Amino acid sequence: MNELDGFTKICKVTDIPERKGIRFEIDEHDLAVFKIEGEVFVISNVCPHNHTAQMFNGHLVGYSISCPIHGWKFDLRTGKTLNNNSNIKTYETKILDNYLYVRIPKKFFNW
Ligand code: FES
Repeated sequence: MNELDGFTKICKVTDIPERKGIRFEIDEHDLAVFKIEGEVFVISNVCPHNHTAQMFNGHLVGYSISCPIHGWKFDLRTGKTLNNNSNIKTYETKILDNYLYVRIPKKFFNW
């Protein structure tokens, strides 16, 4: 089994700006990608509050990302809420040869 099975190549790590989110849409997954001091974090771009796809535009303080719409805050490292609301989905990442790979769960249709 390949160590990258289940992972999708997203972009070069060196193309991700420091402390400024960027958005990727992969197989119906809307991703917000951040880099802080060289470490990469990937969360859902869709806020669990109003399902607004703007997390990549959120305000970063340390590892806290706040949704630009109503300010719900999350820890980028864990996706845990920082103000007693719902958590946000995080994605497992790997970096190989300067490329970011993200584990994208397959959607299962039940019909
Ligand atoms: S949509 Fe994100 S806090 Fe309301």
